[in-house]
Amino acid sequence: MTQEVPKGALEAVAAALRRADRVVALTGAGVSAESGVPTFRQAQNGLWARYRPEELATPQAFEANPQLVWEWYAWRRRLVQQAQPNPAHVALVTMERRLAHFTLITQNVDGLHRRAGSGFRFPLIELHGNLERIRCSREGLTFETWPKSEEVPPRCPRCGALLRPDVVWFGENLPTQALQAAWEAASACDLFFSVGTSALVEPAASLPFLALKRGAAVVEINPQPTPLTPHATHILAGPAGVILPALVQATWGERE
Ligand code: OAD
Repeated sequence: MTQEVPKGALEAVAAALRRADRVVALTGAGVSAESGVPTFRQAQNGLWARYRPEELATPQAFEANPQLVWEWYAWRRRLVQQAQPNPAHVALVTMERRLAHFTLITQNVDGLHRRAGSGFRFPLIELHGNLERIRCSREGLTFETWPKSEEVPPRCPRCGALLRPDVVWFGENLPTQALQAAWEAASACDLFFSVGTSALVEPAASLPFLALKRGAAVVEINPQPTPLTPHATHILAGPAGVILPALVQATWGERE
């Protein structure tokens, strides 16, 4: 991809990265855009074009039409399985390898960070769950793989309740441990990256502000402005798959 990388800002962030002790990166759907996974607030294609994710990713939608919601997730899961991690995911693995302390917090449920290799030194925090896992809608028992079943959605082998994807839906609480770990990391970092997120959905949207309050520098990587943009210390406007590898190269002279 040919894309101008903002040189001055890139050098400033590279210098901040070399100095930083504790670094946090928060990622959103934009980080997987270059892998061909549609972002949340981008119009959907084909079959699902007439639905908005906000209408499908809710407990109310699952209660009203569990089959529709299950099938939407089955479609997204197939899409994600066909996708490959992109250079943005790979650059974040390099950051984990190079930095003294690094915490990757993602709102994505697509598992692409893990598939790229993230989470090998420090815990990878999946704030909104993971599309690959299934959970009993009554008792919360989780299963690592999707069951093969004629029924849509399938039922819990233990209690017979409907199974659902192990993701956080609108209006639901985030997993307590993940949220606490994210909160602690953002409060203790000296450099915070907000990458490919519209910075609209709470509580993730508060994390960069928590970092700012503690005196950290905040870097936003996004081709579009967001509510965070006016508060960011550095803005690297552009696609994550271009900016992050360029940043790794500018910081450590490493190209992957
Ligand atoms: P959104 O779809 O809201 O935002 C995606 C962001 O990525 C936008 O700001 C785009 O400008 C930006 N973007 C697009 N292409 C990019 C690229 N190549 N490089 C960098 N940035 C790019 O997705 P999220 O912010 O992740 O929650 O949405 C947050 C949460 O809202 C999701 O986790 C989901 C959703 O509702 C739940 O499901 C609970």
